[in-house]
Amino acid sequence: MSYRLLRALLFSLPPERAHGLALSLLRVAHAVPPVRWLLRRAYGVRSTPAPVRAFGITFPNRVGLAAGYDKDGAGWRGLACLGFGHLELGTVTPAPQPGNPTPRVFRLPERHALINRMGFPSGGADLLARRLAGPRPPGVVVGVNLGKQKSTPLEEAGQDYLALLDRFAPLCDYLTVNVSSPNTPGLRELQSRDYLEGLLAPLVRRRDELQSELERRVPVLVKLAPDLDDAQLDDAMEAALGAGVDGIIATNTTISRDAVQDHPVASETGGLSGAPLTSMSTAIIHKIVRRAAGELPVVGAGGIMAPDDARQKMDAGAVLVQVYTGLIYRGPSLVRELVEEVG
Ligand code: FNR
Repeated sequence: MSYRLLRALLFSLPPERAHGLALSLLRVAHAVPPVRWLLRRAYGVRSTPAPVRAFGITFPNRVGLAAGYDKDGAGWRGLACLGFGHLELGTVTPAPQPGNPTPRVFRLPERHALINRMGFPSGGADLLARRLAGPRPPGVVVGVNLGKQKSTPLEEAGQDYLALLDRFAPLCDYLTVNVSSPNTPGLRELQSRDYLEGLLAPLVRRRDELQSELERRVPVLVKLAPDLDDAQLDDAMEAALGAGVDGIIATNTTISRDAVQDHPVASETGGLSGAPLTSMSTAIIHKIVRRAAGELPVVGAGGIMAPDDARQKMDAGAVLVQVYTGLIYRGPSLVRELVEEVG
């Protein structure tokens, strides 16, 4: 089925139902070998770009799936057939939690954008760990994005992230500390210098302790919001550099509505993603790359809807890119187009 038809079907459903259906289709497609083969043939990347080294890992290409698309690892083996060089699963929280009441995802189709206030619905660490166990599909890097339980006070958030690091370091290639989702009350305060230093330093130490046991070093990345002003960004970068993390993901969704003010859905609370975020996130990547002075690799995310958007993230200094909303509007063939553009 062409994505135009599938998209018409999916967009006739409420966004979260459509998303659940897409993940189920991917899971089923992967489970049936001839369908899996067709999926790989239809969407798998045909070119073979040169592998890319970033934070100690070799990626088959520069294009990844951003966190939040497959929070519980429901369809990740199917997603691995779509040509991504990496998949970032999660955000996962230590215990299961329901997230915010529905509806909590809204489409802005004329703007190729979404607003979401999911609030980390998660099946919890046990579920994702179970789904990650077992043989890995060939040639895809898997990261896990970690978040704190809604009920955990900010002062104790470090315990949640440490427990998740212990759980997932043996099961994946890299870990992302998510301190930038706008939908968990207070979470973004963890980007302030004091909190972030206090959070990241013990995580990096624990990762170092695990290195000999695991016989590999699991890179720890931090994902930042696009809404930080220059002083906040300086603080966050100093904390990240000081703690010795391995890279930055920029960016998460924005709370700004400047680019969609006149849209009827703009008043919904949550994070805005997709086309209205493109230039905002690229501008932040520029600043981060300048502040990191080549010491920290940057993964660029935010409004990559077409090859040129990915090119601009690379020109700003990103080493890898990630997509989410572009996949909803453009379908899986976007992955191949992006790989053809940036490798
Ligand atoms: C997200 N994003 C996200 N990020 C994250 O770190 N953890 C998460 O659980 C989620 N969940 C989530 C749900 C939905 C519905 C959306 C649209 C987005 C943010 C995502 O990973 C990405 O950083 C931004 O959406 C910007 O990229 P795009 O969507 O503009 O390509």
